[in-house]
Amino acid sequence: MTVHIPVLLNECLEGLNVRSGGVYVDGTLGGGGHSREILKRIGPNGVLIAVDRDPDAVAATQEALQPIRKESGAKLYCLQANYADLPEIIEQLEIDSVDGILLDLGLSSDQLADRDRGFSYNAEGPLDLRFNRLAGQPASRLVNRLGEKHLADLIYEFGEERFSRRVARNICQARHKEKIKTASQLAAIVRRSVPRSKHHSIDPATRTFQALRIAVNDELKWLKVAARRLPDLLAENGRIAVISFHSLEDRMIKEAFNENLILETVTRKPLRATEEEIASNPRSRSAKLRIAQRRIG
Ligand SMILES: C[S@@+](CC[C@H](N)C(=O)[O-])C[C@H]1O[C@@H](n2cnc3c(N)ncnc32)[C@H](O)[C@@H]1O
Repeated sequence: MTVHIPVLLNECLEGLNVRSGGVYVDGTLGGGGHSREILKRIGPNGVLIAVDRDPDAVAATQEALQPIRKESGAKLYCLQANYADLPEIIEQLEIDSVDGILLDLGLSSDQLADRDRGFSYNAEGPLDLRFNRLAGQPASRLVNRLGEKHLADLIYEFGEERFSRRVARNICQARHKEKIKTASQLAAIVRRSVPRSKHHSIDPATRTFQALRIAVNDELKWLKVAARRLPDLLAENGRIAVISFHSLEDRMIKEAFNENLILETVTRKPLRATEEEIASNPRSRSAKLRIAQRRIG
């Protein structure tokens, strides 16, 4: 069962104009929080295509969504895939165009809770951080192999960590003595390197883990590809909604929407979670939702 609470749920459903008989795409299925509500609203003539890079998430959520799918009568495709490959998937399914596309970036609370995947800082499990453990290289490889400057730049850029140089130096010193294999080993090194902020309660390891996760999954590259390719899938007046948690991602989406001649921006400023939502789901604090609509003609 999923522990993930969907962020900005009503804003997404309204923003995408989810309606009966529509064809929708959830590019980041995760625990299915958004997909579940889309399924409920599209009825027997509706179609939902949901993908995730994480095979575990797809398997678990596909099964969990079956009762809702049966109740709604909608057609549901759950596939393990990168959202950047959605044009090929939609073509293979012989679907001409879609009415709405949702991307809810980052990682899910289910991934965070799995102590064998490296997302959870205090876990003794391997420092992996891949969404799909069957492809690419685990974060431990980067951490044990990258040069100090490269590591520092990566942690600074993707993690916005002010103390990136100190973190990188301490990682390099530590790995000289013993290979860094687990999340808890890395978290201990980062905590030694970064002063605890008086204002924020977040763990000092958060930014470094985020940076490594973004790097091992090539998240910015795939987002860039998707931002360029996915709007072409939309029917006239179809909408694309993207929730981001990182300023680099938000900027990329804003620019991609502004520069795309077939799109009209719906949210001039990104939508944010209400105080009420933040109180019940702290993850929503940094979420920003941008929506754009395909022009007619
Ligand atoms: C924040 S979670 C989505 C949660 C979901 N909306 C819900 O409410 O349950 C983000 C998901 O996106 C997936 N993901 C990240 N990058 C991806 C990509 N390029 N293609 C497909 N899925 C991706 C992750 O594996 C993760 O499961």
